[in-house]
Amino acid sequence: MATAKDHYDSHLAPIYTWMRGGAAGPRRQFAEFLRDRGLLPSRPEATALDLGAGSGFQTLPLAEAGYTVTALDFSEILLAELAHDAAAAGVTHRIRPILGDMRELSRHGPSPAPELIVCLGDTLTHLTSTAHVTRLISDATAALARGGHLVLGYRDYSLARHGADRFIPVRSEADRIFTCFLEYGQTHLTVHDIVHVRDGAGWNMKVSVFEKIRLDPAFLRDRLRAAGLTLVHDEVTAGTHTVIARKT
Ligand SMILES: C[S@@+](CC[C@H](N)C(=O)[O-])C[C@H]1O[C@@H](n2cnc3c(N)ncnc32)[C@H](O)[C@@H]1O
Repeated sequence: MATAKDHYDSHLAPIYTWMRGGAAGPRRQFAEFLRDRGLLPSRPEATALDLGAGSGFQTLPLAEAGYTVTALDFSEILLAELAHDAAAAGVTHRIRPILGDMRELSRHGPSPAPELIVCLGDTLTHLTSTAHVTRLISDATAALARGGHLVLGYRDYSLARHGADRFIPVRSEADRIFTCFLEYGQTHLTVHDIVHVRDGAGWNMKVSVFEKIRLDPAFLRDRLRAAGLTLVHDEVTAGTHTVIARKT
């Protein structure tokens, strides 16, 4: 079984944005989310921290909205893609990419303290244990400016899929097919990412397997409150929870 970092380095990172159907849609949706939820920067010097920034689905809209963004991720490939797209969008000066582990977030927080910290796109479930989730919430709360917001987005794996439902056709085109197969354990989910690439008249298959945690939404809400945050929003769209909590 690969670690999450190995999984991205050797398998997922080069095709992540393709697998998600491209960057334009997710970036536009997140820009709308910032506006609709009142999360735009309150002043010109406002900073934001993007945990598990990936190829920039959140970082770019944050920078375009006026934040100076610290984009933290342990994938060199995805951070390079983020930097390339930031240059194309003319927002490089607003982005500080950091190659690092979000389990060490206290080492990487921006100054002045961020008024917004986001961890979206199911990144939270990549942490190896709920203890790491608790620690991340507490580190993020300590790093946030007073009145700032923490936004977490994660998939709800509490209901197990069975039989053929565990095979998910993620994306396909003429020369490449991405399928995901899920195995449910008590506390974790084993994710098999299967990529078929056309090779002449035949196909090559490459598989990488890693674990995610099955996060209980009630546990997460409890941890946010225990850290002293106030829950201001909690929505579920297509199996994905998005929670907004404020440091009062
Ligand atoms: C599912 S992707 C989400 C990326 C982006 N937020 C989005 O919505 O597209 C998860 C990202 O988190 C990163 N990641 C996972 N665990 C991490 C960790 N412990 N420290 C830093 N980055 C991590 C991966 O490299 C990947 O870019």
